[in-house]
Amino acid sequence: MRKSIHQISLVILAVVAMCGYSLRMKAQQLKAENIDEVVKAMTLEEKCHMVLGRGMHFNDEAKFPGTAGSTFSIARLGVPETYCADSQQGLRMNATRAWDHNDYYPTDFVASMTLASTWDREAAFKVGQGIGNEVREFGLDWILSPAMNLIRNPLCGRNHEYYSEDPYLSGTIAAGYVNGVQSEGTAACPKHFVANNQETNRNNNVSQVSQRALREIYLKAFEIMVKESNPWTIMTSYNKLNGPYAVQNHDLLTTIVRNEWGWKGMYVSDWNAGDDAVAAMLAGNDMLQPGQDKQYQAILEAAQSGKLPMEVIDANVKRILEYVVKTHNFKGYKYNNEPDLKAHAKVVREVGADGIVLLKNSGVLPLVGKRVALFGCTSYDWISGGSGFGGTSVGHYTVSLIEGMRSVGYEIYKPLIAAYTQHIAAEEKRLFPNGRPAFSLMPPARADEKQFTADELNAAIEGSDVAIISLGRKSGEAADRSESDFYLKDGEAQLIKAVSDAYHAKGKQVVVLLDICSPIDVASWQNQVDALVCTWQGGQESGFSVADVLSGKVNPSGKLPMTFQIKYGDAYADKNFPANVDDKTLGAMFMWGYDKDNTPKERQLQANIDFTNYEEDIYVGYRYFDSFSKPVAYPFGFGLSYTTFAYENLSVSETDGVFTVKVDVKNTGNKAGRNVVELFVAAPNSKQLNKPEKELRNYAKTSLLKPGQTETVIMLVKTEDLASFNEKASAWKTDAGVYTFMICSSANQIEVQTSAKVKAWTKKVNNVMKPKLKLNLLKR
Ligand code: BGC
Repeated sequence: MRKSIHQISLVILAVVAMCGYSLRMKAQQLKAENIDEVVKAMTLEEKCHMVLGRGMHFNDEAKFPGTAGSTFSIARLGVPETYCADSQQGLRMNATRAWDHNDYYPTDFVASMTLASTWDREAAFKVGQGIGNEVREFGLDWILSPAMNLIRNPLCGRNHEYYSEDPYLSGTIAAGYVNGVQSEGTAACPKHFVANNQETNRNNNVSQVSQRALREIYLKAFEIMVKESNPWTIMTSYNKLNGPYAVQNHDLLTTIVRNEWGWKGMYVSDWNAGDDAVAAMLAGNDMLQPGQDKQYQAILEAAQSGKLPMEVIDANVKRILEYVVKTHNFKGYKYNNEPDLKAHAKVVREVGADGIVLLKNSGVLPLVGKRVALFGCTSYDWISGGSGFGGTSVGHYTVSLIEGMRSVGYEIYKPLIAAYTQHIAAEEKRLFPNGRPAFSLMPPARADEKQFTADELNAAIEGSDVAIISLGRKSGEAADRSESDFYLKDGEAQLIKAVSDAYHAKGKQVVVLLDICSPIDVASWQNQVDALVCTWQGGQESGFSVADVLSGKVNPSGKLPMTFQIKYGDAYADKNFPANVDDKTLGAMFMWGYDKDNTPKERQLQANIDFTNYEEDIYVGYRYFDSFSKPVAYPFGFGLSYTTFAYENLSVSETDGVFTVKVDVKNTGNKAGRNVVELFVAAPNSKQLNKPEKELRNYAKTSLLKPGQTETVIMLVKTEDLASFNEKASAWKTDAGVYTFMICSSANQIEVQTSAKVKAWTKKVNNVMKPKLKLNLLKR
């Protein structure tokens, strides 16, 4: 009896234990509603793994070869691995896989600069949506874009990945993109947060920036994006900022972004950023990618010793799981590897054309003659995007300029095709005697320009109605451009002169296409040519997009998202940028972290390499040129059309601190077209108060207006949007007074204006992120 009672109680115990176990097991399987319980159920070791990424997946046996990383999985708790990939202008993943006959080509969308030049939030949404959709249909979860650092200097190697010199344009285009990505249930990852405006020594350079410039310019772009699109994740940058690494800066990541802005998403570091994993955790940087063993050890030991409080690591893990439960892999999405590439190609062609900026036009465009002679190596070796980690293996093809032009009915002068094919092949042998390297982060050297004899030119003139010369510039991650890259090379200048002189002598015209990654000098040579078209880099359909604009099938409506300065050195920021660093591999040398042991102790810290003083303060881009009346080649916001527009009936009215700005835009020319309406606002006494002359506060893009058609455009501006940052009070302040509301066609061209009384507004914020030294700041 004792025995059987004993046996019965054992059975009961076992049943109770099993029920308890399975109940617990069930409760522990990750769901959106039980994240706290899952965090509690995790071992310390699991938590330390969870905060570290798993990358990079470059080998062939990876689930998604060629992608940047993934997150840690814990099968017993139902936490799946989730996958991320880079995107500069499309999902970066190997297009082919070992042991698999399929291909996995994603779409090569447009460069970010091209997207920003559309000044069209809808275009940004469509591109984001296309990329978000491809991420989902190729089985991944999370895209490492948009890159949205401010364009502070025309030589930054990654400018083409960024949007604008203006925080409002950058922030709103980024928000459109993030909203598009996340509409597909894919996580976006705006980067690189923040003040990562140069590639030279990017892993250790200290950006030294005033609190005001940080708040009004560099943080502002991200603040607008966060508020308008709530990204699920943000990537912290490599650089240091006013002292600590951005990735290890609690004031930046937690005090400002989480506490002031109310953002609740997950931070991920840039790949191998920072030097202290525990400091990153304490700062609120939830995940370190791609994850290192020594980071695991450091976090584990700090957690065991209490240096890293359990609440901190729990909070980091919680935010990671909050991201995980939203992902496609968590939801078990059955992807098909067949996104609608045709539909996406259509988006690329349209957005690519809408991002083209017509800078100059004597009337030669749209092209009337059908016979075209293409000059310049770039005409035959078109650049669809930049280089760098995000720039490889994307896109199945690039539509060439020849293909594009032929598709809309142009005849291409053939002898030049043959001559350039030969020339480029010979240059390739000269530049790469041992063949091109299989992979190079840096953009490969490009062919020198071919020059022509008078006979060859005369024959070309005979055989064509117009000459098109293409100039190319390519740059990318890990190195900045040099000052010399801003200017034409001798061969380019000679070619432009020879072709222009010869064509003009026979009464024919010359068009120059700028297939460029960033602004270049145009002022010194543009009066030799009849039209100047900034095509930027438009992804896989570029040849079609360019042809659509040249032929007039699409009326250009792009506007410059940054100033084209006359000379390098004209912008105040130029003196604090590594423009003339001899060894441009410096960026690469220090890419994976400053090697403290190999760096001579006595090495003097070098300006613009070890630290960069942002002495221009808030006077970045047009804020400088406009406020200090400096001439430019083409101002911010500039762009011509094949038609003309008039602005009428501008009105501004206010209700509860929100200004409604209305203006009628009329197409007064004879071609249908879209128009970008730029709203700048000038504060009263701007000079005395050391504020910019005027600032972009909103913009809109009309629909396609037929000749004679009018559209009423409405834009809103809040009193708080007009605030400047007052360092002494550590507060945002809108000064009371009469403000001028201007509708402009560029930063230098006010079309109509009116004024409105604005009431004072102020908001105190935390007094954080002070530079460690007194900067010699520019003032009006
Ligand atoms: C770049 C990031 C990129 C990461 C992962 C880094 O070198 O700065 O933009 O997302 O690599 O590939």
